[in-house]
Parts: sequence; structure tokens; C-alpha cells
Amino acid sequence: MDKLEFLRRELESLHKESLFNEIRTIEGPQGAWIVVNGKRVLNLCSNNYLGFADHAELKEASKRAVDEYGVGPGAVRTIAGTQTIHLELERKLAAFKHAEACIALQGGFVANLTVIPAVTGDGDIIFSDALNHASIIDGCRLSKARVVRYAHNDVDDLRRKITENKDSARRMLVVTDGVFSMDGDIAPLPEIVDVADEYGAIVMVDDAHGEGVLGDSGRGIVNYFKLEGRVEIEVGTLSKAFGVMGGYITGPETLIDYLKQKGRPFLFSTGLTPADTAAAIAAVDVLTKSDELVRKLWDNAAYFQRRLKDQGFDIGHTETPITPVMLGEEKTASTFSRKLFDKGIFAQSISYPTVARGKARIRCMLSAAHEKEDLDFAVDAFTSVARELGI
Ligand SMILES: Cc1ncc(COP(=O)(O)O)c(C=O)c1O
Repeated sequence: MDKLEFLRRELESLHKESLFNEIRTIEGPQGAWIVVNGKRVLNLCSNNYLGFADHAELKEASKRAVDEYGVGPGAVRTIAGTQTIHLELERKLAAFKHAEACIALQGGFVANLTVIPAVTGDGDIIFSDALNHASIIDGCRLSKARVVRYAHNDVDDLRRKITENKDSARRMLVVTDGVFSMDGDIAPLPEIVDVADEYGAIVMVDDAHGEGVLGDSGRGIVNYFKLEGRVEIEVGTLSKAFGVMGGYITGPETLIDYLKQKGRPFLFSTGLTPADTAAAIAAVDVLTKSDELVRKLWDNAAYFQRRLKDQGFDIGHTETPITPVMLGEEKTASTFSRKLFDKGIFAQSISYPTVARGKARIRCMLSAAHEKEDLDFAVDAFTSVARELGI
């Protein structure tokens, strides 16, 4: 008897509904052009916003750290796994984000699983944007707090939900993505903070797609809206614009001190490797020295988005370098992506359950690593595939 037969049937139905995710393999480093399954293609779907994933200074820093600190931290941070570079990274990130303190973790996903259940519990209410990232949803599930969803980016609905529920709450937390990764729109953080302040709710923002992108030298959404000191919890990732791997939380010292005592993935799972930690430090150093890469990223995004719109493509309501090309049906989007690949463009389709049914798209991620001629090549390919498919 095959006890896992139910999984085989699930996989078959994913194939039938065009929802099976074909995972492509990249040979070599991330960059504007990469080799996928033996074919050289233009990369339009990694989160390597600033080209840091293969940056000379970051690689050098990693190599030096391996020589100096070895390859692994050897224990969880609270036992014997905190090395001096972990503290250096936390100090640098706190300074970069203009926050009091920072705790580094193994990923952005893990950061959400760490902080949400640590600061909320039985009797509390979490108000969560309807389109928040899976890691926020899972962080909420790990908490014993009640979760109330408010309509996406709708501050009136947030206020309504708070007033309806506040009397039954011990404490309240409002949590939102900073930049929504599937549409590229930005949370109305100033209005969210005002409403939260009115009712004494804690505010948490996940800045995974904002750091390295928004604000001075990519300091993120809180800096972008000049809200320093008004957002209690900022979650970040080192795995996107920073080009490395890992996550972190910044905020008041009290919060970070508490998480170092109570955050379960910090207590029960080994921390970042020396190589990752050193590369992340180098990323912060490069960004602190110059905003040149951030400016190039925005320049590329503006150019690409204008050219796509001129060709008649619907790119939704993005406000950032995330550029969704809206196609509707799941099958159309997966066929479109396959045809793009044949023409030398690596741009994957995103469909249900990552986005709602019927809202499938090709999501293009711009990078400072792209040149204008790369973007022209991409727009030509999009136009020619659309013509072939009669879109
Ligand atoms: C909003 C958001 N939060 C968290 C994460 C997870 O970050 P990481 O890849 O560092 O675990 C992602 C990545 O997809 C994200 O988009």
C-alpha cells in the first residue's frame, strides 16, 4: 500500500490545472544574464535588485570571513554560536535603518515566524493586510492571538476593524508588507501609523522588497515615509536587494533584547554562517557609501515600465521596480513564460495560489545589473510573444 498515494493525486491535479511549478536550475551566479538548463537567458525574475548576489566586494568579504571564522557558527546563537561578526552586522543594520537595535536571523521568513508569536499571544488581536506575505500569515498562525484581516491597503477598513474589535483585545498589532511583492504597490504606512497610534496598536512592517529600493540609499519604507521612531517593528531580509541570505528585525532596544531571550528560531536554530554575515555587512557598507545602484535600479524600472505601457501592456498599479505584466488566465501566463524562455527571456509566470485565480501574470523584477539594451531586448520579446498569442 502506497501511503503517499494522496500526494501523487495532488501533484497530478496541479499538472492538470497548469499550476505545477517547474523549477528551473541556474548554472553559475545570479546576474542580468544567466545560464538556465544550458541556455543563456536574460534574467527578469530574481530579487537581486542591486546586483549584489555576485558583487566583487561582497564575495571578497565572504572569502575573508571563511578564512577568519570558518564555515559554520557551530551552535545556536544563545549557546556558543554568536561570533563577533554577527554583532557587527546587527550594529550596522541598526545604524543603516536608523533604529536602536537589530537581531539577525536565518531568513526573512524566519524573522516573521520569530517576532509575531513573540510579541502577541492569547487575548491579543493582529490586524493583518489581506495580501500579506505567506511568512506573515504563518507567523500569525504560530501566535495564539486572534487574526483579523483588513482589506488590502484600505486604512478605512483597518480603522473599522480596530473599532469593532478593540474592546476585546488585550493588545493590538497591525502588520503589513511594506512593498507588496506580487503587485509592487506600497503600503500607506503614514496613515496606518496614525490609525494605530490613535488606538495604541503596535505597528509592524515587513520591508523585504523595500530595503535596497525605497528611501535614502535603500534604507527602506520607514525612511522613505520619514517615519523613524514611529514604527515599532521592522522586518527585513538579507536575501533580496542585499544579495545574500538571512533576515533581521530592527526596532527599540527593549524589543530586540526580548527577542534575544524569547524568539524561538533564535534560541533553537543555528544562526547565519560567517560567509553570509560578512557579505551582508559588505552590502550595507556599499549602500552606505553610495546610492548609485539604487538610482540605476529606479532608472531601469522607469524605462522598462514606460516601454511596456507604450506597447499596450497592463502592468497593474506598481509603484516600484516590481513589474507585473497582467495576463489573466493561468494557462496564458504559463504559455507566455515558456515562449519568452524560447526567445531568451527568463521571466516566470505567477499564478494561483500565489495570486488570486484569474490574476495570473508574468512578474518582471528589475535590477541595477540590467542595461538599457537588455530591457529593449525584453520588451521586443514580450511584444512578439503577445502577437503570437493574439493578446
Ligand atoms: C514580504 C516578504 N517577506 C519575507 C520573505 C522571505 O524572505 P527570505 O527569502 O529572506 O526568507 C519574502 C520573500 O519572498 C517576502 O517577499
